[in-house]
Amino acid sequence: MKIALLPGDGIGPEVTAEAVRILKDVSEHSGRAFSFSTHAIGGAAIDAEGAGLPEQTLEACLGARAVLLGAVGHPKFDGRMPSERPEAALLALRQALGGFANLRPAVCYAPLAKRTAFQPDRVKGANLLIIRELLGGLYYGEPRGFEASGNTAFNTLIYSRTEIERVARVAFVRARERRKKVASIDKANVLETSRLWRAVVSEVAKEFPEIELEHVYVDTAAMRLATSPASFDVMLCDNLFGDILSDQAASVAGSLGLLPSDTLGGRVDLYEPVHGSAPDIAGKGWANPIGAIASAAMLLRFSAGMDKEAAEIDHAIEDALSSGARTRDLAAPGERALSTRDMGQAVVDALHDIRDRRHSYHAV
Ligand code: IPM
Ligand code: MN
Repeated sequence: MKIALLPGDGIGPEVTAEAVRILKDVSEHSGRAFSFSTHAIGGAAIDAEGAGLPEQTLEACLGARAVLLGAVGHPKFDGRMPSERPEAALLALRQALGGFANLRPAVCYAPLAKRTAFQPDRVKGANLLIIRELLGGLYYGEPRGFEASGNTAFNTLIYSRTEIERVARVAFVRARERRKKVASIDKANVLETSRLWRAVVSEVAKEFPEIELEHVYVDTAAMRLATSPASFDVMLCDNLFGDILSDQAASVAGSLGLLPSDTLGGRVDLYEPVHGSAPDIAGKGWANPIGAIASAAMLLRFSAGMDKEAAEIDHAIEDALSSGARTRDLAAPGERALSTRDMGQAVVDALHDIRDRRHSYHAV
């Protein structure tokens, strides 16, 4: 199984290395062969090859079974227009791969309850899945740009029935395997696109009578994420609302470094942690690799059909956290913090323990 690795910028390479370590461990243990190839993207590619998404990178991704990305973005490009920035490479890649549904699970792990930005007893039990529409809306809408004066700029928020229908269906299907609730997020009191969004989601809901649907205004949703996140199961969002709310969901979980994502529905699935390139801590070994490792687990589940191995990694992450493993973003003041590498190793060790326990159980 071919996996294209795009470490990218900032902390991307450090966290991707830990995700690869766990995949290699799974490969060794299961006998399933993975072949990895590494390619440039983002600021690193602009520097090395003059383009954020070089032709060879795109070809390698299209020829792979799955793509695992680290992060893109660097402050040295801050003066540039959106289309000239590293982020544009990621948007172009998402479009070329064609995945329109971006799945972002956010769990409030019990051992991290103290790290949440919100009141621990309010976020207790929070376990949500944000499904973010990834190929439409404000991110890609045309026309966009500056007027000649330079004093007016515009973007277009546009959604078609087809775009809404297909992502809504993913949300209902996922909800079926969870707590059977979908909250569709919109701003239907102000925006026409949201009127259409609400109408189409309600129609799709009729195919899923066992799922409970509620429509929630995005501003209310932001408040509810802070006050009662456990009241949400699947949150279905457009591209921009999903971007914003997933960072808020990360602060419910305890750190942006924890959240993974999978983008599906296209030619090749794309796996990436939700966090950015964090250039301020790049190269220091401070980054939390759990978002990348959990993205690798999603890859095993959705692209490799290795459900059991994926569940074991999720379990190993929880065990490592329970045993006190903390990177700097998770450590309490005065608490010892592990390096990126040591956190990766802590998860691998926990995985080995899980396997050992399983074997001894079978032996009995
Ligand atoms: C994310 C990121 C990206 C986005 C950036 C890097 C373009 O914030 O995946 O959430 O806005 O989609
Ligand atoms: Mn984001």
